[in-house]
Amino acid sequence: MPASPAAVTLASMLTASRSTAVLTGAGVSTESGLPDFRSRTGLWKQVDPIKAASIEAWEQDPVQFFRFYRQRLVRLSDARPNQAHHALAILQERGHLDSLITQNVDGLHQLAGSREVVEIHGNLREAVCLACDQVFGSQILLGSDGDPAAPVPRCPQCNCVLKPRVVLFGESLPASAWAAAVEAASSCELFVVVGTSLQVSPVNMLPFHAVHSGARLAIINLEPTPLDHLADLAWPQKAGVGLARVAQELGLDLSPRTGDCLSDGDGLG
Ligand code: OAD
Repeated sequence: MPASPAAVTLASMLTASRSTAVLTGAGVSTESGLPDFRSRTGLWKQVDPIKAASIEAWEQDPVQFFRFYRQRLVRLSDARPNQAHHALAILQERGHLDSLITQNVDGLHQLAGSREVVEIHGNLREAVCLACDQVFGSQILLGSDGDPAAPVPRCPQCNCVLKPRVVLFGESLPASAWAAAVEAASSCELFVVVGTSLQVSPVNMLPFHAVHSGARLAIINLEPTPLDHLADLAWPQKAGVGLARVAQELGLDLSPRTGDCLSDGDGLG
């Protein structure tokens, strides 16, 4: 792999930092074949998020809501971690990364071996009944035989419509995950943003928390972000390519890890 000045810079920033937090977004999973939201081929270019992924859509048009979420679940069941997920897992294992905060609901960080991932927008492994608080594996959300037009999934206990355990538009973030993310951003020496447009609030406040607390900021994203001007390093690069080069600079081995050995469907819990 050719040497990259940005990879050398980020590797030295990681080495110098005594406490590093990473924030990831949908861009870390595009190299696993999952679309992001706001790129040219992003999901929100194809469907209106308020009609497909809001609490109002879940309440008022569950048929359309589950058509969208069942497609995402099916697509996710085939997805495997890529070099970006693997690099972040090994950075954590070797003590270079203290907190991993993700907006992603795909569970690919965990499949790659990352631990204690702060899932700030929830997860697609689970479904919840808002009436009786029961939690189920998300398999329950899929229609029989994968039929996207199957009846909307209902709680086996109280018959209320189930909800994927993701944060929908119009819902609050999980309080404990948000508190953990703010704490990590405010106490780190280096905050690294990977694969997010930083257009969604309040998550896009986390780099401000970090910078205002004295941390250095690095951003790896294919497109410019609104916070590039605050960054010590703004690197327009693919997450998998960039993080693999950083790992190489640090002498870390990225050969396949735990996640690649898991069987089909493990990502859905
Ligand atoms: P976006 O789609 O807004 O941004 C993804 C960013 O990743 C874009 O700026 C892409 O240019 C960049 N990108 C794509 N592939 C990349 C790659 N291989 N390497 C590096 N960068 C790449 O997705 P998020 O910022 O994650 O929320 O979106 C945030 C939230 O908006 C999501 O969690 C979701 C969505 O609405 C909810 O559903 C609540």
